Amino acid sequence: MMNRYLTTPIYYANGAPHLGHAYTTLVADCCKRFFQLCGDDVLLATGSDEHGQKIERTAAIAGQDLEDFVASRSNEFETLWQRLQISVDLFERTSSPTHKKVVAALWTRLVDRGDIYKGYYEGLYCVGCEQYYTSGSHCLIHRVALEQYAEPSYFFRLSAYQARLIDHIESNPEFIVPATRRNEVLSFLRSEKLTDLSVSRTSTSWGIPVPFDPEHVIYVWVDALASYLSALEGEGEDRLATHWPGAVHFIGKDILLFHAIYWPALLWSAGLPLPGKLVVNGWLTVEGRKISKSDPATIIDPVRVADRVGVDGLRFYFLKTVRLGQDLDFQQTHLIDVLNADLANNFGNLVSRFARLFTTSFPTGIDLQIDGLAAPDLELLNQVRAGTTRFVAVLHGYDIAAGARLFVELSGLINADFQRREPWRCVDESELKAYLWAVHHCLRELTLIALPLVPNLASEVRAILGAEDEAAFSQSGVNHSHVQIGEIKPVYPRLQA
Ligand code: MSP
Repeated sequence: MMNRYLTTPIYYANGAPHLGHAYTTLVADCCKRFFQLCGDDVLLATGSDEHGQKIERTAAIAGQDLEDFVASRSNEFETLWQRLQISVDLFERTSSPTHKKVVAALWTRLVDRGDIYKGYYEGLYCVGCEQYYTSGSHCLIHRVALEQYAEPSYFFRLSAYQARLIDHIESNPEFIVPATRRNEVLSFLRSEKLTDLSVSRTSTSWGIPVPFDPEHVIYVWVDALASYLSALEGEGEDRLATHWPGAVHFIGKDILLFHAIYWPALLWSAGLPLPGKLVVNGWLTVEGRKISKSDPATIIDPVRVADRVGVDGLRFYFLKTVRLGQDLDFQQTHLIDVLNADLANNFGNLVSRFARLFTTSFPTGIDLQIDGLAAPDLELLNQVRAGTTRFVAVLHGYDIAAGARLFVELSGLINADFQRREPWRCVDESELKAYLWAVHHCLRELTLIALPLVPNLASEVRAILGAEDEAAFSQSGVNHSHVQIGEIKPVYPRLQA
């Protein structure tokens, strides 16, 4: 058993959550459920990023008190995770007292290390990104003019960590996945000389004050990154010791440099271990444009999609169709087509036809040992079991889309076999018995790998199979001398276009 700590980005509390936020969180939730099936002790953290100018300005435009504003925005995210059945263990708000303490302590460690000095910042800034720019006049993401800033500022000696960063990323090929993103960071580090990072602001007071110099607030990205540590703070056990080492951050490609460059440097400076991995996702787009609050026409409410296709339908579509690290242009018709093909026709029909035939043929169940199977039955079962092993391997590599495709492939394999064998025409009772026993075991395997992808559907089918208490990969390959079928319910109804 391993301890694992999975995190999503903490989302800006300046607007309603959209499909893009839901996507990153679904990926993390899928991995959490997968690792739990492996027997690991997994914590999933998310939260809300509540400080900085971006939030301050949006609250002012909305004419709301800042604290009330962030509290209600943060609440919208928490509500969404409940609606989407995301199994969040830790929800960190950066306005929480614990977080403020953790950030101040982190700052003090950086000071003690000699990595913080006072200077003057003059340059360009995008409030949408909460990021400094060294060149250009416009932010390409937010499509606004960069703002000129000139203010006293504390700096972090980021430049001192350049060689160590290159070395770390080179010698840990799995630190950033997929490899295209790793290469992007490496080529940036090899070609650009890192400058020291301005890590405090005087132009806003909406943030965590710099210890002993409260005129300054700590740069919102330092504040936000530290939430990964503060989420683990709590009563009782030392989760920083048990769960932090090897942490996995699920992020979008837009925030890669913060996580791959600033965050490791800050942690080294503070004398803390680095996370084990960054899993970098692409973007969901609408007509080629990133779904983003700053482009309201692109906004899609995940709850509306879930109302239409179910929580499992929403999860499954994105988990299967977004290839690791790549963008996906969202199209409603494609969503419906994929769900009808994979969940209603392929998986759903297979389960229903099998379960009906089983109950009508053997209402009290089947008693059999594996050596009662004919060679083709055994071959089918072995192929499906090999698929489960492959699934475990691809998910360990965080290639969820490959895992979801494997599920579809295996459903298709069993379906095609069922179609070809036509067991409903079989007149030899012992032959039929052996075949249905084998398919029952195939479906146990299939629904095991379906649990992280479509948790509700998979659990419902496992209840039909009488396998609901065996949610662990250690159950894969186990043979049951008696199998039966419980009450049959429809699996995934076909969606109307
Ligand atoms: N608050 C910072 C993160 C701090 S983490 C220490 C932030 N927040 S955000 O709300 O703007 O977006 C965070 C993440 O949401 C992105 O990195 C990405 O994972 C996800 N997405 C936001 N829009 C997205 C899409 N259109 N598509 C896919 N994911 C997107 O940045």
